[in-house]
Amino acid sequence: MLKLDNIRQNPPGGDVAHSLRREGVEAIKLKKTDEQPETPAACQATQELFTHMPGAITKLTKDYTIIDANELMIKASGFRYQDLIGKKCYEILGDGEICRDCLVQQAFTSGRPESGARLKYDKAGQPIYGKQTVIPVKDRQGNVGYVFEIITDITQEVSLERENLQILMDIVTSMAHLIESRDPSTRTHSTNVQHIAVSIGEILGLSDDELKELSFAAILHDIGKIGVPESILNKPGRLTEAEFSVIRRHPQIGYDTLKHICRLKNVSEAIRDHHEHYDGQGYPNGRKSGELSLNARILAVADVFEALTSDRVYRKAMSIEQALGIIRAGSRRQFDPIVVDALLAAVDKE
Ligand SMILES: [Fe+2]
Repeated sequence: MLKLDNIRQNPPGGDVAHSLRREGVEAIKLKKTDEQPETPAACQATQELFTHMPGAITKLTKDYTIIDANELMIKASGFRYQDLIGKKCYEILGDGEICRDCLVQQAFTSGRPESGARLKYDKAGQPIYGKQTVIPVKDRQGNVGYVFEIITDITQEVSLERENLQILMDIVTSMAHLIESRDPSTRTHSTNVQHIAVSIGEILGLSDDELKELSFAAILHDIGKIGVPESILNKPGRLTEAEFSVIRRHPQIGYDTLKHICRLKNVSEAIRDHHEHYDGQGYPNGRKSGELSLNARILAVADVFEALTSDRVYRKAMSIEQALGIIRAGSRRQFDPIVVDALLAAVDKE
């Protein structure tokens, strides 16, 4: 085991390759180092790589003790090198306690590199997103001697991604309103379906990203009605079978419209399937239960529930109880029972 005193004598970003060999620990094997020892030039290169890597790096023992750190880590921590060494990583990078889902612990256990994202807040309360990668280094017996933890600041990338997502959301919301403006009787339908679908998704424990995707799918679920003539959309009387068959094309038209936007691939599939039934008796393709994404099964319930509880030219809105009765009756046949239960729980909650 490396003596901390020895490490303390090393300058920041000390000769890592040297300290590895002193311990009988091999760096990640690209070649057999015994047969091809590193040249002084290679040692110099390793040292410079460690020092100037565009990430904050610490070298840690199994009990989370910092035994080396590079310049960026020293700068980011606000400690002097000699004060940083010997501290626990969670005292510097965490909240003073071993982090939940600790990647250092995982890398020691698995013996494989582990990575994930970390969110912290600065003193002003602004979020800082970090990408954390932990690389285990094994000794000749294959045991993990220590790990390198590399943290890179990805706050800018995350902010940009969020901005792009918001722009996309604004565009698709405008598109949804454009579609709804062609059919005055359903003007708020998509935004209501979005609200109901997200409430169901929350009950089902979807993550923020999954809820965002569900939200996109809900607001856009009827976008394919762009391909349905207004004379059919706004017809006050009963539709003929031929007119119904035109309307039944809208899920496929919606899918065909959005499938080329790679960010909306899953969304377009949910839109295509929002009129499918759990038992396979829906349209346009007769897909059933396991063939349908959870988003499609949620949309199917949210769409019908919203329609039943809203005024239409041909009937008045039903009460919530009446609508829930119809949805419950369709459980396992038209609707996924898990989603029906989630709707009931969401209505109860509101
Ligand atoms: Fe629809």
